[in-house]
Amino acid sequence: MIDDDGYFGESVAATYDESSATMFTPEAVEPAVAVLAELAGEGRALELGVGTGRIALPLARRGVEVHGIELSRAMANRLRAKPGGEAVGVTIGDFATARAPGTFSVGYLVFNTIMNLTTQDAQVDCFRNAAAHLEPGGTFVVEVMVPQLRKLPPGQNTVPFHVGRDRLGFDTYEVATQAMSSHHVRVTEDGQGSFRSIPFRYVWPAELDLMARLAGMRLRERWADWSRAPFTSESESHVSVWEKLAD
Ligand SMILES: C[S@@+](CC[C@H](N)C(=O)[O-])C[C@H]1O[C@@H](n2cnc3c(N)ncnc32)[C@H](O)[C@@H]1O
Repeated sequence: MIDDDGYFGESVAATYDESSATMFTPEAVEPAVAVLAELAGEGRALELGVGTGRIALPLARRGVEVHGIELSRAMANRLRAKPGGEAVGVTIGDFATARAPGTFSVGYLVFNTIMNLTTQDAQVDCFRNAAAHLEPGGTFVVEVMVPQLRKLPPGQNTVPFHVGRDRLGFDTYEVATQAMSSHHVRVTEDGQGSFRSIPFRYVWPAELDLMARLAGMRLRERWADWSRAPFTSESESHVSVWEKLAD
C-alpha cells in the first residue's frame, strides 16, 4: 500500500520496530552511533529518512543535536512519541529535495534507504541535497547493500534473503534498469499470511562516488560495516563516507 506516507504508512509504522528488531539491537545500533558521533564532533547531524529514530535517538542521547527529514508522518509520529523524541527536529518531506534548517557537520542515510529513491536522477538529487546541508569539510555517510547480482544464475531474477517458517523474504532484480523490489511474506500461526512489496533502485559503490563528485564531495572512507572492517570483493554491504570540498 502506498499513500501520502509512501511505503511506510500507519500499518508499517505500527510494527516497524518489532519487524526490524535485529536492527534495533545494541550490536547493530551502537557501532553506527559511535561512527556518526565521531563525525559529528561538536556539530549537528542530519538523518535522511529518520524513521522512528532507531539511530537518531541514541545519537541525540550522546549529546549530538540531530535533525531528520522524513516522508512518512506515521513514522515521524512514532519517533516523537518515544522518550527523547522531542529533542529530534523533523522536517516532513522528500530527502532528495527538502531543506532542513541550519547547517550540519554530518549527514547520513542508513539501512539501504538510498535505494528507496527509485531513479538515478532522484539519487543524484539526494547527494546534492545532502551536500547543500553540509559545512565545508562535513561528511555524508551512506550504509547500503552491494547489489547481489553475483547470486543470480543466468535466466533468474530472484535472490532470497530470508527463508523461515514464519517469514519469507526475496529480492527481484531488473538488471536492464537497476530496478529492484523487496518482497516480504509473513505467515501467522493460523496459516494466514500478509504480503508487502517495496520498489527500490539498486546502486553500485562506484556510481555513488560519481554522485558524490557531482555534488562536490569526494570519498574519504569505505568500510564493509560500522566496525570499519575492510571493504572487499566479498562484502555484501558498505558504509561510505564522502567529504564536502571547500567551494
Ligand atoms: C528502512 S526505513 C529506515 C528508517 C531509519 N533510518 C532506520 O534506520 O531505522 C526508511 C525510511 O525512509 C523514509 N523514506 C523513504 N523514502 C523517503 C524519501 N524520499 N524522503 C524522505 N523519507 C523517505 C521512509 O518513510 C522510512 O521511514
